[in-house]
Amino acid sequence: MKNAEAFLVALERRSKLLAPRAIATFAANRELCSWLLDPLARWAEAAYGEKAFEDAALGYVKYCLGVAQAQAIYERAGRYTPESMPEITSGVYEDAGYMIPYMWAAILIYAFWPSMISHLALFRHEFLRQLPADAAVLELACGHGVLSLLAAEERPDIRVTGLDISAPGVAVANRLCTASGHSGRVRFGVADALQLDKAQQPGAYQGIISAMLAEHLPTPAPLFPAIARQLAPGGLVFFSVALESAQRDHVFEFHTESEPLRMAEESGLRASRLVSDASAVAAKSKFLPRSTAMILRAR
Ligand SMILES: C[S@@+](CC[C@H](N)C(=O)[O-])C[C@H]1O[C@@H](n2cnc3c(N)ncnc32)[C@H](O)[C@@H]1O
Repeated sequence: MKNAEAFLVALERRSKLLAPRAIATFAANRELCSWLLDPLARWAEAAYGEKAFEDAALGYVKYCLGVAQAQAIYERAGRYTPESMPEITSGVYEDAGYMIPYMWAAILIYAFWPSMISHLALFRHEFLRQLPADAAVLELACGHGVLSLLAAEERPDIRVTGLDISAPGVAVANRLCTASGHSGRVRFGVADALQLDKAQQPGAYQGIISAMLAEHLPTPAPLFPAIARQLAPGGLVFFSVALESAQRDHVFEFHTESEPLRMAEESGLRASRLVSDASAVAAKSKFLPRSTAMILRAR
């Protein structure tokens, strides 16, 4: 049965440039990274066979190259220069050829990028372990679905609904879900995070996850009242977002931690914890790519 090492061995084969940093990040945070990668390796092998590790490594390499190119363009342009939303929808979210490698990368960065380690720790220790008993959890923009599946793995008492705008992303989530054995308590579906209100009961969820979504929304402000409406009294939100981090599908440019925090506060939420970490950049960079994660509660 495969474990975390299978992802690292495949990455070493595929990229001598990227592997050392991923291996060092894993080694420095072995217990936490294994908490993510060990079950993911089992699910990936059961869902996709041995080739999952090669595909994941290739997806990670492609993604990191795309990020480096996008960041270089951002430095020159002085602002995000995304394609139009229809182009991003058809070229990214609806395109399985783009989306499947991207989904591998989107989850591997939690264990391979030093700046994402604090997100993983916050998610495990201060979100999942603090959820009320028997919580109903909603994950917005679940993509690969792995955060929802880890939630089910960590907390056998909870039920999780994961939604994403991308049908190919949700197909990956469903395949991993079947392999995980959690399909009795986790279900995934295709939906736009900003179009949920009509279908959802207010206050229906004791836990809401919105990880690395807001920067993908042309107008992210309505996300926060939507989250606040669906949060049950005493419930918890795990929220994260990229700041000054150019990528093909990043359309809203957050510069400071205070911008998403203020949007959350204006919607009646408050942060009980906040972490923020930067990536390494060249000395003369104008921008400091980083990502921030928060635990939000109703005021
Ligand atoms: C960077 S991935 C994050 C996936 C996962 N939440 C994580 O943290 O790894 C961004 C995800 O947002 C989804 N997405 C973008 N716009 C969305 C929207 N309006 N509603 C729901 N999902 C959306 C994409 O399909 C993609 O799966």
